[in-house]
Amino acid sequence: MCGVIVRTISWDTHGPAVRMIDQQRLPTAVEFLTLETYESVATAIREMSIRGAPAIGAAAGFGLALAAARSSTGSAQDLWQELTTAAEVLRGTRPTAVNLLWAINRMLKVAEASMVSGIETMRQALVDEAQRIADEDVEINRRIGAYGASFIKNGDTIIHHCNTGALATVDFGTALGVIRTAHEDGKRIHVLVDETRPRLQGARLTAWELDQYGIPHEIITDNAAGYFLQRGEVASIFVGADRVAANGDIANKIGTYMLALAANDNDVPVYCAAPLSTIDRKTASGEAIPIEERDPSEVLDIQRGGMPISPQGSKARNPAFDITPHRLVTALITEAGILEPPFDQSISHAFHHEDEE
Ligand code: MRU
Repeated sequence: MCGVIVRTISWDTHGPAVRMIDQQRLPTAVEFLTLETYESVATAIREMSIRGAPAIGAAAGFGLALAAARSSTGSAQDLWQELTTAAEVLRGTRPTAVNLLWAINRMLKVAEASMVSGIETMRQALVDEAQRIADEDVEINRRIGAYGASFIKNGDTIIHHCNTGALATVDFGTALGVIRTAHEDGKRIHVLVDETRPRLQGARLTAWELDQYGIPHEIITDNAAGYFLQRGEVASIFVGADRVAANGDIANKIGTYMLALAANDNDVPVYCAAPLSTIDRKTASGEAIPIEERDPSEVLDIQRGGMPISPQGSKARNPAFDITPHRLVTALITEAGILEPPFDQSISHAFHHEDEE
C-alpha cells in the first residue's frame, strides 16, 4: 500500500495463489486471504472481500491466471475452453464495474494469441498479463494523482464518497490518490468522509486509510453532506467511478448523484477520478449502464443497542450504484490528463491519443 502496508492484491508464485486483503474484516483486523481457485476469487469479488472497480479488474485478471496455472490439462485447446468457463463465472460476479469486463477481455486476448505457442507459453503469458494489469494500475493511479492534485488548494475541505483509495485499486487509489498526492505535496487538507451506507466503505475503509496516511478527516453521515456544502465549508467533491459512459455520465457508489446535485446547487466542483479502463465507450449514456442491486439484508442488518433497527419483516431496496449525469460533473481526471466538458469529445480525444502512443 505504497509504503503503508502492501498491495491490496498480489500474485503468490509459490502457491500459485492470489493473495488479497480481506476488506470484510477491515478496520477491525488486517487479514489476508490466500485463494487457490478462480471460483474462490469470484466469491471474494461477489462478497466484497475485494471491491472497487480497478481492484475488481485486477482480481479478475489474477483469477484467470490462476485458472491457467492450476489447470491439469496438457492441451492448449482444452485450456482455452477452461478459461472461457472461468471468464463466464468471473463476469457474473458484479455487473456495474466495467473494469471487470475490461480485464477479462484483455486476458482472453492474450490467451488466444499465445495458444499457438503451446500450453506452457500460454500459462506464463496469462500470469505475466495479470501481473502487468496490476503493475500498470499502480502507475496509472500515480499519474491520476499528479494531474488531479492541481485542483486542491492549501487549506481545502473536501467531501469524499465511498472508498477510492489503495484498497479499491491495486495500490495508491484514484480519487483518494489525488487527495494523497496533494497531502504529499505538503498541502493542508481536511476530508469529510461520507460514511457510505449501506456497506460503509467510507466509515470503515476510507477513514482507515486516511488514518494510515496521517490526513486529517471526520466521518459524516451521507445525508449531512448538503449541510456542509450549503454552509460554504466545502471546496470540492472527489469521487471515483465504476463505469463512465461515452457521454461522461458516471455510475458510482449509491449516493453520488445526490451529492453531486447538492454540490452543483452550491457551485462546488465535482471531480471524478478514474482510469481509462473505467470508461466504456460502447455505452452511450448512463441509462444503459447495468446497476447492481444487492441483497436487502445489507440495508436491514443494522442494530442499535443490540436490537434491530427496522420492524421484523421489513422489506428494503438496495441499489449499489447510481448515475450522475455528466452535466453535474466538473471534470474527469484520468491518466491521460484532465477531461473537461463536452465529455463526448474529450473522452474520444483521450482514447485516440492513447491509441496513437
Ligand atoms: O461496491 P464497491 O465498494 O465496489 O463500490 C466502489 C465504488 O463505488 C468506487 O467509488 C469505485 O469503484 C471507484 S474505486 C477507485
